[in-house]
Amino acid sequence: MRKIFIGNDHAGPEYAKTLITYLKEKNYEVEHVGSFGPESVDYPDFGEACARKVATQNAKKENSAFGIVICGTGLGIGISANKVKNIRCAHCVNSHYAEMARAHNDANMIALGARVIDIEDAKNIIDTFLTTQFEGGRHQRRVEKLNAINCN
Ligand code: RB5
Repeated sequence: MRKIFIGNDHAGPEYAKTLITYLKEKNYEVEHVGSFGPESVDYPDFGEACARKVATQNAKKENSAFGIVICGTGLGIGISANKVKNIRCAHCVNSHYAEMARAHNDANMIALGARVIDIEDAKNIIDTFLTTQFEGGRHQRRVEKLNAINCN
């Protein structure tokens, strides 16, 4: 089971806490990188912090970490995460997105909008994300091209 890092801005601390409890009940190891309270913060700080944790863990041991980032829409914090090398963060609004993000894009992070996705839907989206395998094959070449863009 991969370790899961969770990051959020002020739109998502309670949402994140609910998901952490849910994931711990499923025996996932979870680390919350903040933010922890309702005070206004900037999503790039927490998108980057979470993505760096995921990238560092995966550099130590390949495919050993996933990340979940949460802001109001999932957009800003997901864009932030994708600035980090070897991160493929997918903004998902339903389980089909999550399935494709894993199966075709080998996404290692997911971005969710706490203000637009019901928490029960978020649990289902995350379940799909965490349990869908990357298909490899022709998708492997495309993911390698994604990684190469980071290097330029
Ligand atoms: C913060 O109000 C909001 O802009 C942020 O949570 C996120 O939705 C940005 O993409």
